[in-house]
Amino acid sequence: MDEPAQATQTATAFDEEAAIDAAIAQPPRELALGFDIGGTGVKAALVNLATGELVSQRARVKTPSPSLPEAVAEAMKGIFEIIAKEVEVPADAPVGCGIPGVVKNGRLLSAANIDKAWLEVSAEEVISSVLGRRVECLNDADAAGLAEVRFGAGRGAPGTVLLLTIGTGIGSAIFTDGHLVLNTELGHFRWRGTDSEKRISGAARERRHISWRKWATEFSDFLAEIEIWLNPDLIILSGGVSKEMPKFASFLKARAPIVPAHFLNSAGIVGAAMYAALVS
Ligand code: BGC
Repeated sequence: MDEPAQATQTATAFDEEAAIDAAIAQPPRELALGFDIGGTGVKAALVNLATGELVSQRARVKTPSPSLPEAVAEAMKGIFEIIAKEVEVPADAPVGCGIPGVVKNGRLLSAANIDKAWLEVSAEEVISSVLGRRVECLNDADAAGLAEVRFGAGRGAPGTVLLLTIGTGIGSAIFTDGHLVLNTELGHFRWRGTDSEKRISGAARERRHISWRKWATEFSDFLAEIEIWLNPDLIILSGGVSKEMPKFASFLKARAPIVPAHFLNSAGIVGAAMYAALVS
């Protein structure tokens, strides 16, 4: 009984990764809406898939607390309405959403920085029914990585590209010669006796009241550990912390070059829009 299920899952993962490869090479449609659910804010914009540019404002509301699925979906509906007042959102525009957790078949399989109630539902079904449009979900860091490798700091980069998104948690996306390995979770890499994100995410830096210098020194130690295992050729930083890079870049060290994401904290929005266009 187990074998056919296993075979189906492998085929699905394979199809999805092949579709992602195709989207990186050539974007399929013109406009799509991208959402990014974060631990502190829910953001969205309409995206031009040919260029990766935002063609509406980047609308943002605070993530509801508790971040229950229906409450977050309602917040997304509010953002959708703000954007639709500003620009025309085509009725057939694909809608994508990056979520902080492992996402398979539209469901969250982990929920470190979002309410655990997400584990009980299909994220895609809940959000789609509240929004009244079909929504495609993926991991938020994978979304940011897609945007950066297609249009941004990782464009055309050979070898292993590692994107780390640093905010409430730490998310990761790993590409080998432009091919994304879905759902890697380096923020949960055990480091100094705990989940690394508990010590060195942006939120952890604020909670610990440490300077950018001390944070960057610790983050460099974390990168040194990661480099032993993955040997990236390029490291891209996105998420809330990437906006502050001038404050800590001089204290950051790694063997590979470290660059800020071209889209900074909007990379997840752009990548979610790209993803929706390729799978819908
Ligand atoms: C989650 C990841 C997510 C990251 C950044 C982590 O806590 O497990 O899936 O990418 O936060 O939001």
